[in-house]
Amino acid sequence: MSKVIILNGSPRKNGVDAGIASMIAEEFPEAGHSVDVVEVCDLNVKGCLGCMACRKSGTCVQKDDMADLIDKIRASDLLVLMSPIYFGAETGQTKIVLDRFTSAFKGEKPFGNVRVSSVLLTCADKNGAVAYDATLKRILFEMKCLKIADPDGGRIIGGLSPETVRDSPAVREYIDGLLTQLNQ
Ligand SMILES: Cc1cc2nc3c(=O)[nH]c(=O)nc-3n(C[C@H](O)[C@H](O)[C@H](O)COP(=O)(O)O)c2cc1C
Repeated sequence: MSKVIILNGSPRKNGVDAGIASMIAEEFPEAGHSVDVVEVCDLNVKGCLGCMACRKSGTCVQKDDMADLIDKIRASDLLVLMSPIYFGAETGQTKIVLDRFTSAFKGEKPFGNVRVSSVLLTCADKNGAVAYDATLKRILFEMKCLKIADPDGGRIIGGLSPETVRDSPAVREYIDGLLTQLNQ
């Protein structure tokens, strides 16, 4: 059994990303895997202060929800990071959390054995996979810097609405691919 943690960076409770996260949370337990969906926008996480105190201590000086989130990620096998594209990038709330990942950046394995199995970006533009490729690559590159193992190519799925998520072949293919990867 693997432990999957999904960080959903969308503020929309019934949006596209929430729909995809729900499908994973419904389906993966049937295959014996547990799924924890974390709504990034519900967290109390403040922006990085850039003080670099964490470089010495390994923890952030700000006492908010970030330390618990890092512990949860460390206790997981697989991290799925989801965000809608807002003006060409991940949501601001997602970016704040990614910046704060830096506070774990100490030692050989800052995030334990967790793998980023996937970074999923959703967007309105059907050509989003081309348009936002650089955004995806940037996030994956930073994940590599944080020594989160095995980031795959990630995915960008465009042109979805909350109503079409469950019937989308692209979403089906994405979820099936994730499950195959987990079962390997
Ligand atoms: C403030 C804002 C900015 C957006 N910017 C873009 C964009 O630059 N390109 C794009 O294709 N879609 C953009 N979108 C659309 C969302 O990325 C898209 O609808 C996404 O799938 C919504 O996911 P959600 O329902 O999980 O929040 C934007 C939406 C909002 C609210």
